[in-house]
Amino acid sequence: MITNLSVQIAPKHHSGLLLANPVMTASGTFGYGTENSHLFDIQQLGAIVCKGTTLEPRGGNPQPRLAETAGGVLNSIGLQNIGVNALIKEKAPVWAGWRVPVIVNIAGETIDDYALLASRLDGVAGISAIEVNISCPNVKAGGAEFGANPESAAGVTAAVKAATSLPILVKLTPNTSDIAKVAMAVDEAGADAISLINTLKGMAIDMAKHRPLLGSVTGGLSGPAIKPAALYMVYEVAGAVAVPVIGCGGITTASDAIEFILAGASAIQIGTASFTNPRAPLDVLDGIKQFMEKEGVEDIAKLIGTARH
Ligand SMILES: Cc1cc2nc3c(=O)[nH]c(=O)nc-3n(C[C@H](O)[C@H](O)[C@H](O)COP(=O)(O)O)c2cc1C
Repeated sequence: MITNLSVQIAPKHHSGLLLANPVMTASGTFGYGTENSHLFDIQQLGAIVCKGTTLEPRGGNPQPRLAETAGGVLNSIGLQNIGVNALIKEKAPVWAGWRVPVIVNIAGETIDDYALLASRLDGVAGISAIEVNISCPNVKAGGAEFGANPESAAGVTAAVKAATSLPILVKLTPNTSDIAKVAMAVDEAGADAISLINTLKGMAIDMAKHRPLLGSVTGGLSGPAIKPAALYMVYEVAGAVAVPVIGCGGITTASDAIEFILAGASAIQIGTASFTNPRAPLDVLDGIKQFMEKEGVEDIAKLIGTARH
């Protein structure tokens, strides 16, 4: 049986963003793609999302920055990255020779940072889209996450949209009281697709030292522990917006990925699972294909959102 796994994740955009399949890597867990290219054929993936990129290079937060939890990982990497200039100079030329599309994840402290980043990336060969990480503290608004409320989330989205002709994915934070409202605001402000979720805020304490375990006190929780929460939010958001939704959060196996697709995700991202199994994205892709063959489903479009009816 020939199965069609291709998905269009930016149907509103003038040139669209057609992926060969719905399996993407999640930002911050797969570097720039180049690091893992010797482990498996990364060109088989639907898309690669690179590490969060800022205007200037960043060294990140104080150590320790990673802690294992039951079924998950806490991280407080703090957006350690090479900065947008080095990305354009060193990484984009490599990506330009790849079949797999690369999406650049961006992060800022002000709306102007995001707009400037988006305009710098516009027209750069090797970059297929921008993913806007709105889980960052808005320094002009007392440090609340941009994605915590619909107004500031829409403000970032509109500014990025105006600054680039690339398709834009806006990545939502789960650290908000009504994620569907944020999603609707971002959709209206011009997002081509919405990805979710970023990490859930969490912490761990070193019992012996009577101190928070992470160097920056709090961190972001990811991995299997957050899957039910992520799945619920994807279900909510897919029911609230018209643009494609990309599911992320604790996806470790093909079954996890299929649950997100049935909940309404047009594509999925694999994050923490790559730390224990670097081939996880490819294994998930193979498992999705096998499921479709077993169920006699010829087109992945026939699976998207079917748990909703
Ligand atoms: C070590 C680490 C670094 C991350 N860095 C970023 C980042 O730079 N930008 C971003 O949008 N998300 C970042 N994330 C969040 C992931 O992309 C993903 O949204 C989250 O981990 C949930 O998916 P998972 O449970 O499959 O890991 C990071 C996650 C981890 C674990």
